[in-house]
Amino acid sequence: MSPAKKNKASLSAPIHNPTIAVYPGTFDPITNGHVDIIKRAMQMFDRIVIVIAINATKKPLFSIEERIEMIEQCFGSSNHRIEVKTTGGLIVDFAMENGACAIVRGLRAVSDFDYEFQLALMNRKLQRRVETVFLMTGFRWIYISSSIIKDAARHGGDVSGVVPAHVKTALQEKFS
Ligand code: COA
Repeated sequence: MSPAKKNKASLSAPIHNPTIAVYPGTFDPITNGHVDIIKRAMQMFDRIVIVIAINATKKPLFSIEERIEMIEQCFGSSNHRIEVKTTGGLIVDFAMENGACAIVRGLRAVSDFDYEFQLALMNRKLQRRVETVFLMTGFRWIYISSSIIKDAARHGGDVSGVVPAHVKTALQEKFS
């Protein structure tokens, strides 16, 4: 095969199954902003592996098991297009092990950009076969984060509408 033909062939041939993406985060807890990103990512990929990453700098309120259960309840455990896993390692390694071609990240505001840009570039340096795909967070969720929601719930604030109902209940139980 001529070099030009070989190059054309390698550009058109997917390296992995192109329809699996990983969506990493701390999910302490999952919010409606995360759910929005996952639903939209499902329109682009056949399967989404939601991965709870162990972040040494964060002290989570919910255990890994509680977070997995809350995420599964959002989509139903029989939804074969969504899987929830956990990792203490690199996201790009996890993506390769799970046959994923992409990492999905949501961008809320300009303030997210610097960190996300750094993260995407580092991930690309570590593993060129996995691309980062950014989705703009829906405008209704631009101002929320898991920490802000926990803070509101801790002080008795009503978090209806920013988290699914079962997450609201779990927060109320934690802080009762
Ligand atoms: N709507 C609402 N809130 C959102 C959101 C959305 N669409 N997307 C993110 N957020 C919020 C989260 O709730 C979270 O809030 P918090 O800080 O108050 O908990 C915050 O934005 C950060 O988001 P999250 O996606 O959980 O990122 P993170 O910074 O906790 O973790 C990882 C990022 C998981 C990608 C990173 O830790 C990681 O990759 N770890 C594995 C090791 C690795 O591979 N590192 C990279 C190479 S060195």
